[in-house]
Amino acid sequence: MKTTATLIVNGKSYELPIIEATDGNDAINISGLRRETGFITYDPGFRNTGGCMSAISYMDGEDGILRYRGIPIEQLAERSSFIETAYLLINGELPTSDELNRFSVLLNDHSLVHEDMRHFFERFPRGAHPMGMLASMVNTLRAFYPEIPERSEEDEINKTFARLLSKLRTLAAMSYRISMGLPVVYPSYFLSYCANFLNMMFDSTVRPYVIDDDMVNALNLFWILHADHEQNCSTSAVRLVGSARVNLYAAISAGISALWGPLHGGANQAVIEMLQAIHDSGGDTAPFIARAKDRNDPFRLMGFGHSIYKNYDPRGRIMKDMCHKLLARRNRNDPLLDIAKKLEEIALSDSYFTDNRLYPNVDFYSGIMLRNLGIPLDMFTVMFAIGRLPGWISQWKESREYIGAKLHRPRQVYRGYGERDYIPIHLRTANVREILKGKPITVKSPVFQSEDGSTAAVT
Ligand code: ACO
Repeated sequence: MKTTATLIVNGKSYELPIIEATDGNDAINISGLRRETGFITYDPGFRNTGGCMSAISYMDGEDGILRYRGIPIEQLAERSSFIETAYLLINGELPTSDELNRFSVLLNDHSLVHEDMRHFFERFPRGAHPMGMLASMVNTLRAFYPEIPERSEEDEINKTFARLLSKLRTLAAMSYRISMGLPVVYPSYFLSYCANFLNMMFDSTVRPYVIDDDMVNALNLFWILHADHEQNCSTSAVRLVGSARVNLYAAISAGISALWGPLHGGANQAVIEMLQAIHDSGGDTAPFIARAKDRNDPFRLMGFGHSIYKNYDPRGRIMKDMCHKLLARRNRNDPLLDIAKKLEEIALSDSYFTDNRLYPNVDFYSGIMLRNLGIPLDMFTVMFAIGRLPGWISQWKESREYIGAKLHRPRQVYRGYGERDYIPIHLRTANVREILKGKPITVKSPVFQSEDGSTAAVT
């Protein structure tokens, strides 16, 4: 196995060390490239760039593989719980039953949020998107709860992680209840993580919420499937913001903001909107497929395609299966599931999609599951955020613990003007601008004389 790669620039060759991955792509270490050659690399969207070394999750986009800490997602989906998976991601190993108990107790102990935080919620305008509210409220948590001090004890660190994991779920349910004008339901010590969330969302003094194991299991699965996904957009945001050594809450808030985008976590909401639009227009998928294929139309088939998976997203497969099971157990039909399956079938036999290797991603079926859990549409991405939190925390922790961690600071290839002079405002006509574009100019500023005789240049 070669341990270096040779780069030849302007006839001069440089040896660049190769870093071997335990699985997946090895890397050419270019950290000394600019110093040694004067060149930087150009990689828009960082699609070929490893920004860190990580031992948390592994994905293979060609074969549709995802593993958390080495364990295939299929096994975790079948046998684990969200809390156990969160523990695995954060601590690197599956917990013993004692460790899991302690972790659950910690989550329960920290599930309430400070009562004063309710006032913040009440001041958001009605109709504010819950993702914006969530990002703000997580940042606000920092004002109520201390950040992890440098060199703090393991217990202190775990407490902060548990606080975030538990409170994000409480905040999400609160945001829904307050936005609906409903009284807040507090977390219960006697309910599991997922059952507690459903209860906080839907319990009412008028009609007590009956906890249904199928719904709890479906939610568990939904959150396990979203728990981590290596260096995706929101996780990279958490790492980048975290690299400035901000507190954990601020870094997670950045992750939530990134996740909100329709090309990322916002896609689960966009998929249902698209399926509903197809349904409302009579169920004909053809115009939507045609628009998705039209390069002059910005419309995309939501829930299709992935920047890494060039195969079926393994999470999408599990989600689709769970949608079927959930609907069957509850003896229900969902017309949007039928449309989704039809769309998938048509797309997967269309050369536009197969040639571009566009397959259903996790979001294609997840919205159908969420709506059958009773989750309102604008809360879908919030559900994703709760699920992704263990991943964000583990990635933040890993980057903090990395010896020699650096402030993230990408370079750029500058393609703007050469040096040019400042043009005073009275000379900035379109005509003069055109003539002076890029050319250094020397102009005298007009001088005004004031009543007391002093003079000043116009700036
Ligand atoms: N519908 C129609 N065409 C598409 C789609 C789509 N869903 N996705 C990609 N394409 C097209 C692209 O326009 C591109 O065409 P071009 O070569 O003519 O420009 C071609 O397929 C190849 O696209 P990629 O380069 O593979 O896609 P990219 O990596 O840039 O984008 C992304 C990935 C953003 C996920 C894209 O597939 C997309 O917008 N999908 C819809 C939104 C979505 O479902 N997002 C959720 C992703 S999963 C997640 O974040 C949790």
